[in-house]
Amino acid sequence: MRKLAAGNWKMNGTNASLSEVAALLKAHPAPACEMLLCPPAPLLSRMADVASGTQLRLGGQDCHAEVSGAFTGDISAAMLADAGATHVILGHSERRAVHAESDDMVQGKAKAAIATGLIAIICVGETERQRDAGATLDVIGAQLLGSLPDGASSATVVIAYEPVWAIGTGRTPTLPEIADVHLFLRSRLTSRMGADALEVRLLYGGSVKPSNAAEIFALPNVDGALVGGASLKAADFGAIVAALSDAG
Ligand code: 13P
Repeated sequence: MRKLAAGNWKMNGTNASLSEVAALLKAHPAPACEMLLCPPAPLLSRMADVASGTQLRLGGQDCHAEVSGAFTGDISAAMLADAGATHVILGHSERRAVHAESDDMVQGKAKAAIATGLIAIICVGETERQRDAGATLDVIGAQLLGSLPDGASSATVVIAYEPVWAIGTGRTPTLPEIADVHLFLRSRLTSRMGADALEVRLLYGGSVKPSNAAEIFALPNVDGALVGGASLKAADFGAIVAALSDAG
């Protein structure tokens, strides 16, 4: 399986930020891992121009479950694809929390994304309170099974484990804690999908940075990262891409 370094720019970046993408591509023209950036939607097509002819893939940060219609402010999977996206992040904890997205809604969006030919990066993760209560695996298992559409395969979905309390905080779970959750995700996916589950990329996200990337990528069942803040700077994201490439 090809590992995946994915950057989520969240609500950051303007035209001026495209110079970071050019710098990233100059420093890492042919990484051993797959490289993906998910900018805010207005930047997608211009970033696609910068990425044209390179190995950099682009993704959206959310999509609507419908193809088109009277949904002011929303964006369909087809629109993302039209703008140059091959992937879309779905069910990020910021959308689950701020926009009250349920597992059902995330599943509907994932179906729409896959029907359009996009790869759905489905995010799961526990809050600090849930972890402290010992409910981490219950929460993640329910999110995973509730958000994953029937018929999903390693070609159509990527799963990102992002503990809510590790996002943007500089804190991360211990390495054994990350490994435990990723093993759990692999086993749940295997029950659901069979042998193809071994090929599903499982990303870790939450305060990944150049200084901790290598040790996280050395863990079993960690097939890449979903990176927020550190994906905004070419030097930092490039170092994470290099660490993942070295992890083989
Ligand atoms: P940070 O890397 O900034 O903690 O964000 C992680 C994240 O939410 C990626 O989707």
